[in-house]
Amino acid sequence: MPRNVLDIIDLSVGEIDRLIATAEDIEANPEKYQDVCRNRQLATLFFEPSTRTRLSFESAMLALGGSVLGFSEASSSSTTKGETVGDTIHTVSCYADIIAMRHPKEGAAYAASQFSEVPIINAGDGGHNHPTQTLTDLLTIYREKRRLSGFTIGLCGDLKFGRTVHSLVNALSRYEDIRYVLISPEELKLPRYIKEQALKAQGIPYTQVSSLEDAISELDILYMTRVQKERFFNEEEYLRLKDSYILTPERLAKAKSDLSILHPLPRVNEISVEVDRDPRAAYWKQVKNGKLIRMALIMYLLNIQA
Ligand code: NCD
Repeated sequence: MPRNVLDIIDLSVGEIDRLIATAEDIEANPEKYQDVCRNRQLATLFFEPSTRTRLSFESAMLALGGSVLGFSEASSSSTTKGETVGDTIHTVSCYADIIAMRHPKEGAAYAASQFSEVPIINAGDGGHNHPTQTLTDLLTIYREKRRLSGFTIGLCGDLKFGRTVHSLVNALSRYEDIRYVLISPEELKLPRYIKEQALKAQGIPYTQVSSLEDAISELDILYMTRVQKERFFNEEEYLRLKDSYILTPERLAKAKSDLSILHPLPRVNEISVEVDRDPRAAYWKQVKNGKLIRMALIMYLLNIQA
């Protein structure tokens, strides 16, 4: 059976720590890695739009000396002819050594894995999970703080539909001494099943608030997210909620001097561009980290050592 990453908990804490160490080594010694995936192919199957995730996967594989194939929209695949995800994956697993896929339906990556002979990486399944964004987030937090324990993290925005938030909560809950401040409007609170399984069952402290301003001074990390327009059933509700939080230099006045600000991107309006110049802004570093950790993950799943 191939090794898949469908959910962040498919990787143990020890494996995540090793991926982080590899990512740092890749950055320090890129030449050691430039050929390790020669003759290997990555397929990126994106049934839903993406900029960073798809391009970072592709750029990661190219930097390892491998090659890439795939599609960036469902409309250019046989999906439009009525082919099932299972048959598409079965086909692609005859050509590629590893597959990264994104799909608007929750559970699609799991379903795909039942038809694949090569590792499947979930690059986002609907409003459910996004494990490789979480690896990116963990690498970024580690590089900012040199630890993955002992902090208060504020998750702000669309905690209901934001799959990156769901995976991040599941990941961080396995580290020591983490406290969450869940900042969202009433309508976009973290789903109950995640609170029950990842927080309450393990006795992890959290508070739920609606004001970022009131919470900001206690945070070591602030994870901003966009309101997930494409998951709303009702446009009016989206329009009402979309600008619930906008981080500006003024609003950062009360924040700690060593706060780290993360955002999986794309940003819409949640962080004003002036904040990019603040030394606490880590989201552009996060983009670079996404490529490094995906390089480490591809090698790991293909059983390749440098
Ligand atoms: C995120 C996603 O696709 O869930 N983007 C990403 O992969 N960096 C976040 C988002 O779309 O808001």
